[in-house]
Amino acid sequence: MRQPLVAGNWKMHGTLATNQRLLEALKAGLAGLAGVQVAVCVPFPYLAQAGQALAGTGIGWGAQTLSEHDTGAYTGEVSGPMLRDFGCRYVIVGHSERRSLFGERDPQVAAKFVAAQRAGLTPILCVGETLAEREAGATEAVVASQLDAVIAAAGAQALAQAVVAYEPVWAIGTGRTATPSQAQAVHEFIRARLATAGGAALAGGVAILYGGSVKAANAGELFRQPDVDGGLIGGASLVAEDFIAICRAAAAKGA
Ligand code: 13P
Repeated sequence: MRQPLVAGNWKMHGTLATNQRLLEALKAGLAGLAGVQVAVCVPFPYLAQAGQALAGTGIGWGAQTLSEHDTGAYTGEVSGPMLRDFGCRYVIVGHSERRSLFGERDPQVAAKFVAAQRAGLTPILCVGETLAEREAGATEAVVASQLDAVIAAAGAQALAQAVVAYEPVWAIGTGRTATPSQAQAVHEFIRARLATAGGAALAGGVAILYGGSVKAANAGELFRQPDVDGGLIGGASLVAEDFIAICRAAAAKGA
C-alpha cells in the first residue's frame, strides 16, 4: 500500500544560514518518525547543503524543476543527471508557477517528467486548475488533460514510479485551502483516471499529494481523506515546527 509523503517546496527562499537552522531542526524533529516519507525540494545552489545535512537521515531531498535535456548547450539549465549527482531523490515537475510564470506547457512538462525518470529521479507531477477554470466547471477537464499529456509521453505504467500533486492554483500561497471534500473529489478523479489508463493496481499504488495553503491546522483533516496521501507544502515548509507538525499529521495516517 502507498505510504504518505510530505514534500516541502522551498521555492526561491533561504540562505545558507537560515537553511542550516531549518535542516537541523527538521533532522531533530523528525528523527524516528515512522509512517511517512519526508523530503525537501530546495533551490539548486543549496542541493549540496541539503545533501550534507540530510545524508543518513530518512529525509530525502530534491529540486523544483529540471531540464528536459540531459546535457548540452542550454545556458542556465540544470539536468536530471546533475540532480542525481547531488543525491536527489525527487524533482517537482509542472508546478503551476513554472506553467504560469515561465511558460511551461503540457508537452514540455511531459518531457521533463520523462527526463526525470531517465535520470532515476521520482518526479512529483503537479496538476491543478485556476479559479476561472474551477468556476467554469472545467476542473476535471483541466486536470485530465495535464495528466493525459504525461501518460501519452511516458506511458501509464511510468506513473508507478512517480508522485502526483494536486495543487489548485487558487489555493497556492493564498491562505485559501481547498476543503477536504473538494480535495478528495479531485484526488478520487485523478486516481480513477490512472486506473482507466493503467489499471487498478497502478492507480492504487500512486501517492497523490494535495498542495495549496496546507498548514499544521488543516493538514490532519486533509490527510484523513481516503485519496489524499500527503502534501506538497510551500510556505509552511519554511517554518520547522509547522512542517514537522504537518509530517506528524501524515504519519498518523500511515501508522
Ligand atoms: P503554499 O503551501 O505556500 O500555498 O504553496 C503550495 C505550493 O505551491 C507547493 O508546491
